[in-house]
Amino acid sequence: MQDMLEPENLFDPRNFDSVRRRFDVAETLPAWCYTSKKFYERERDRIFFKFWNCIGHQSRLPDVGSYISFNFCGVPLIVVRGQDREIRAFINSCPHRGSEIMEGEGTCRVMKCPYHAWAFELDGKLMATPLFEESATFKMADHGLKQIKLDLWAGMMWINLDLDAQDLKSYLGDLPERTKLWAADDMVCVSRREYPVAANWKLYLENFSDGYHVPFVHQHTLNFKKVAKRDFHDPSIHLGNYLMHYTYFDGTRGVREHQKKLPELDLPPELKVGTFFPVVHANTMMSFAIDMVSATEVYPDGPEKCTLVTSNLVPKSTADLPDFKEIFAQYMANGDVVRNEDVIAAQRQQKGLSSRFNGRGCFTPQDKLVHDYNLWILDRVIGNAAP
Ligand code: FES
Ligand SMILES: [Fe+2]
Repeated sequence: MQDMLEPENLFDPRNFDSVRRRFDVAETLPAWCYTSKKFYERERDRIFFKFWNCIGHQSRLPDVGSYISFNFCGVPLIVVRGQDREIRAFINSCPHRGSEIMEGEGTCRVMKCPYHAWAFELDGKLMATPLFEESATFKMADHGLKQIKLDLWAGMMWINLDLDAQDLKSYLGDLPERTKLWAADDMVCVSRREYPVAANWKLYLENFSDGYHVPFVHQHTLNFKKVAKRDFHDPSIHLGNYLMHYTYFDGTRGVREHQKKLPELDLPPELKVGTFFPVVHANTMMSFAIDMVSATEVYPDGPEKCTLVTSNLVPKSTADLPDFKEIFAQYMANGDVVRNEDVIAAQRQQKGLSSRFNGRGCFTPQDKLVHDYNLWILDRVIGNAAP
């Protein structure tokens, strides 16, 4: 039973030897990787603080001065649209004595700290320090907000807390090219919804790349569309920081046969034979379907909790249809049922893995991508692989 408990030498590579075997004889990650605070903190530092993370569609910031503030793995952040209409991200902590500056979301002319009223321009420069003057030892220019990397792709905002990280375009590799015919950059975001999950963040991401559960967990929902086959990620073909699968089926899985459908996108026939599902490391699960593009962000919150946030994108011509709201409401209703099935599955798995008496699991050919994903995580958390 010793192996079931979180060991003292958590990060000793020998703890993971059996995970690193060929997938048909490999074991799953030890259960404590889904419950350990220490393991979670190492994932946070080496994965979420090093890789690019999606934080939603750029339309969240429609105007000059639009801002959002939120917590990312324990780091308070502000994202704001500047006078030049550029979107920038900053650490939401005052350079004076550390207070959080902005709360919630909205529109502002300047960002003003509530503690001693230091004010910052929308590009982060310090512009006012009430009752305190510049001097030989204090220059305003040295005390702006700490900026982090932010870039756009597929209309979505992506941030990176590592100032030395490679730029987003090279990080994504061939993904923008593979998906360019969906023209997601020109789409509009028609929904953004949050879902709390009482499970480790990895469980939901693993589930995303696991086709094995679909006939069972989604027996009465997704399974109405028979899957002809799945293509699995091949790192020699798929170049970039993502893990993908392509699921082949006819038509859309968004609604049932008798329900009204959104128009199909303007895609060549070879891209209309199913859905392309990339997991973009670290926090984003995307789907490129025949009628929409979706992105689900995962926000870990300690080892046993996370929040999912899903955005759906369609062409403006689709969103402008007179009956769009009615049709899309059905997509959302169906999507929520499927989502809930996956959330329940992840929460059940978390409960089982939390038992201490749980042994190490195994993989089948149909959940082989979960093994690939676990190896990716081990390379970052235990090994020294660079992003
Ligand atoms: S902590 Fe922000 S102005 Fe003092
Ligand atoms: Fe699922």
